[in-house]
Amino acid sequence: MEILVIIALALAIVHFGIPLSYYFIARRSWLPLPWRVKRDESYRPKISIILPTYNEEKIIEKRLDNIFSQRYPRDLLELLIIDSSNDETVEKIEDWYRRHEGFPLKLMHESERRGKAYALNEALKISTGEIAVIADADAFWEEDALPEAISWLSDASVGAVTCLKRPMNDGSAKIEGSYRNYYNVMRLAESKKFSTPIFHGELAAFRKDLLEKIGGFPTDIGSDDSHTATMIAMNGYRSIAPEGVLCSESVPEKGYGEWRIRRAQHLVQHFSRMLSHIGIAPEGFRKILAIETYLHIFNPWLLIIAAGILVYGALEGSSLSDLLLGSGLLLLLYSPYRTWVATQLYLMMGAVRNIWTKEIAWEKQEKYRKRTNEAIK
Ligand code: GDD
Ligand code: MN
Repeated sequence: MEILVIIALALAIVHFGIPLSYYFIARRSWLPLPWRVKRDESYRPKISIILPTYNEEKIIEKRLDNIFSQRYPRDLLELLIIDSSNDETVEKIEDWYRRHEGFPLKLMHESERRGKAYALNEALKISTGEIAVIADADAFWEEDALPEAISWLSDASVGAVTCLKRPMNDGSAKIEGSYRNYYNVMRLAESKKFSTPIFHGELAAFRKDLLEKIGGFPTDIGSDDSHTATMIAMNGYRSIAPEGVLCSESVPEKGYGEWRIRRAQHLVQHFSRMLSHIGIAPEGFRKILAIETYLHIFNPWLLIIAAGILVYGALEGSSLSDLLLGSGLLLLLYSPYRTWVATQLYLMMGAVRNIWTKEIAWEKQEKYRKRTNEAIK
């Protein structure tokens, strides 16, 4: 029995030790690094904003207002909306366009819903910009997030730029909030070191020649944003999430668990695919990719195995098991720990769910929105 408990303890130490060490090392050694990017703030290439929509009638007009309010020369942008809705989204877009005639908007309707990445590739085919900027409907860009993101692409070494995220509502969003704080530090630190393998489809700008080089967005896995950015980094370009590019997204009040599991599924798909590529990753990216792949695919399981052993030990009357299990449960009162544990559970459930469905065309979650701007700050 003793030996089993020691194994459980060792697994728990590895499970928590690796991400914590990674976090502290990244924060101390990478976060203070200079960007090594020559940024021209007046850089204004032609851009194609691609907005895929599936049943976004409740939010689409606000989102269009938000994109409209970004400061970018109108003659240097096009907004390509690619829709596969069966609600009133298209009518809402047409209504909005009537009030904003002259805005360079093109609306395409898909005959059949084939998932977000497929829609993005369709829009890409007719896009004329040098840069493709992906925009989800249920997200918001903070003031000047767009010109700010584009300015980072003025340096030829940068291939992709994404935003850092802030959640918008209360309720379950509080969990999401703490999740993002730790994650934002990681995104920034990894970006400064070289590139981050996790991108946000809420705002993701890609150099179009690189998108073409890697064959567009992947349609057979769900993580169109992260996987695309990672493939660009694999080609030696920086895929970064800089400080000044902020976006927010609403978080579902209902179906929060399903939503997190589906997103975890997509991350697991992405990192599973990267597993065999770690060895050939560019020098500065290899360690980042190796650790993030480990953290998303393997590390969560150590926690459940350790917990399983301790439960068994407790049932067998081991008081050391009682003590360890009890402390693990008591720690759940501490919210960052609770958030971490929840994320591990989502990743494991996502991995299991991937066995029977990849969720390429996922169910829509109703996102509850309290107020759009206030909670952004
Ligand atoms: N045309 C089209 N066709 N659009 C779609 C489809 C589809 O089949 N499915 C979803 N969309 C649109 C949505 O309307 C929204 O604008 C955007 O794609 C993202 O969908 P959400 O339903 O908001 O996804 P999410 O925020 O939970 O997903 C996050 O993770 C995904 C990967 O797991 C975002 O970061 C996404 O950008 C990312 O792809
Ligand atoms: Mn979304």
